[in-house]
Amino acid sequence: MFVWSNKFETKIDLVDRQHKTLFDLMNKLSNLLKSGSSSQNELSGALSLLIHYTKTHLHDEELLMQDSRIDGRFFSRHRMEHSSFLYDVDRFNEITSPDDDANTDRIEKIVRFIAFWLIYHILGTDQFMAEQIALIKSGMSPERAFETTKEQKLDPIIVKMMLDAVMNLWIDAKNTCSKLETKCSKLETKCRELENKCKGLEDKGKELEHKIQSVLVETIDVDSDFKSFEMFK
Ligand SMILES: [Fe+2]
Repeated sequence: MFVWSNKFETKIDLVDRQHKTLFDLMNKLSNLLKSGSSSQNELSGALSLLIHYTKTHLHDEELLMQDSRIDGRFFSRHRMEHSSFLYDVDRFNEITSPDDDANTDRIEKIVRFIAFWLIYHILGTDQFMAEQIALIKSGMSPERAFETTKEQKLDPIIVKMMLDAVMNLWIDAKNTCSKLETKCSKLETKCRELENKCKGLEDKGKELEHKIQSVLVETIDVDSDFKSFEMFK
């Protein structure tokens, strides 16, 4: 369960509404996963909806920044964060498995990745965005608004929440890495087995080659013996 906190609020109506909807979608999918009785179609449908809504939200946020004439340095960095996140989500989602359990496990990992990334992003980058937009609206230049928010210190509770999100992302990444390591070592063992089998086949091939050669030599000998016999006739 991903719990909404007032610390996530940006005081921008559109952004807050969309962030809350994202939390709803993540929790719905999380509940479907927990129930254990949802079909793969239901799970995949809920995941597609979450990914689609995430993309729409990030795009809307970028349009909002452009409309608010936010500083170009901040806009580029913020947009890059969005693109790199979406690239990871798409790559994660491209990996499909015919095995239902593995597919459920994959969907759970994607939801956790989206949730913890969003929590970290909303508490950090999105709050800086909201503060700059408020300052620009109050008459400050975008450049000055960027410089002002850059120097502001974060609330310790927010820092703690951001660290928790990063920690969860790190633990998930670590678990995925160790699972991949186990898969790699299993594949290595299979490769070695195949190599040994190939070597065995190669040896058998050579044995057969020798046998064929000796049969050919014997045939040639019989041939020449027969010719010699013919000459004496
Ligand atoms: Fe954002």
